[in-house]
Amino acid sequence: MADPQNPGAQLIDGKAFASEVRARVGRQVDQLTQRHGIQPGLAVVLVGEDAASQVYVNMKAKKTAEVGMQSFEHRLPADTAERTLLDLVRQLNDDPAVHGILVQLPLPGQIDSEKVLATIEPTKDVDGFHVVNAGLLSRGQLDRALVPCTPMGSLMLLEHQLGDLTGLNAVVLGRSNIVGKPMSQLLLARSCTVTVAHSKTRNLAEVCRTADILIAAVGRTRMVQGDWIKPGATVIDVGINRLPPEREGEKGPLVGDVDFDAARRVAGAITPVPGGVGPMTIAVLLANTVTACCRANGIAEPKG
Ligand code: GUN
Repeated sequence: MADPQNPGAQLIDGKAFASEVRARVGRQVDQLTQRHGIQPGLAVVLVGEDAASQVYVNMKAKKTAEVGMQSFEHRLPADTAERTLLDLVRQLNDDPAVHGILVQLPLPGQIDSEKVLATIEPTKDVDGFHVVNAGLLSRGQLDRALVPCTPMGSLMLLEHQLGDLTGLNAVVLGRSNIVGKPMSQLLLARSCTVTVAHSKTRNLAEVCRTADILIAAVGRTRMVQGDWIKPGATVIDVGINRLPPEREGEKGPLVGDVDFDAARRVAGAITPVPGGVGPMTIAVLLANTVTACCRANGIAEPKG
């Protein structure tokens, strides 16, 4: 219930935090280049012309170059054969200048995404989507895994906000391989009591109300209502949904999976959309590329 005394939840500024993370990655890249003569390299592969994917890939290439890494871009037509993409991935696996490989999802229908993800060398899988990395994460071997970027970025925001998460009740709303499942395992690794809820969960509102930490990652516009939130809870909104535009020819606004205006009257802290989790994803991608580069060269990660 909205608390009339609540002056409004604290806003968790993912944009500012991501910028700090990228600055640290930039310093790490400088040290790797100066001390070891190694420049980390990230290859991004885009198949087709999906507008949202193009925006992401352009942004990734820009931020990669900004931190001083080498950026390799591969843009293939929408009708690319699966075999052609697999050959490219193998070529990138074998290229010593490439430390991280990311194949932008979703892929066109003629390509089996699972096959592509399985072909990426796990030590270069900076998305953390390969089953080897998923397995290492599920075993709690975070020092060996490459961890998916959006959940890792969400965890960093949570720890920045709350410090130690031990013993807190975390509810993860959503069970995707990209966010929900890895998020739940990261929170478990931080000794939270974790519930994974989803669209088929009974009494969803009630389950969410038990959460000290609520992660919304279902991809449904403003699904989480204000009265689903425990007063004082920390809410991480992973959703990025575009509303219809008010005027023809314009873009509609971006909103999350949480009804932000209602939630901020109840929560203790909340991420906005945009400017919350979104910017963290690319920051962690760059951090993962430095990690992969250091492991490949058998050197300790610079502090930055
Ligand atoms: N499509 C949407 N999000 C992602 C992501 O984090 N990684 C990749 N490879 N594709 C995506």
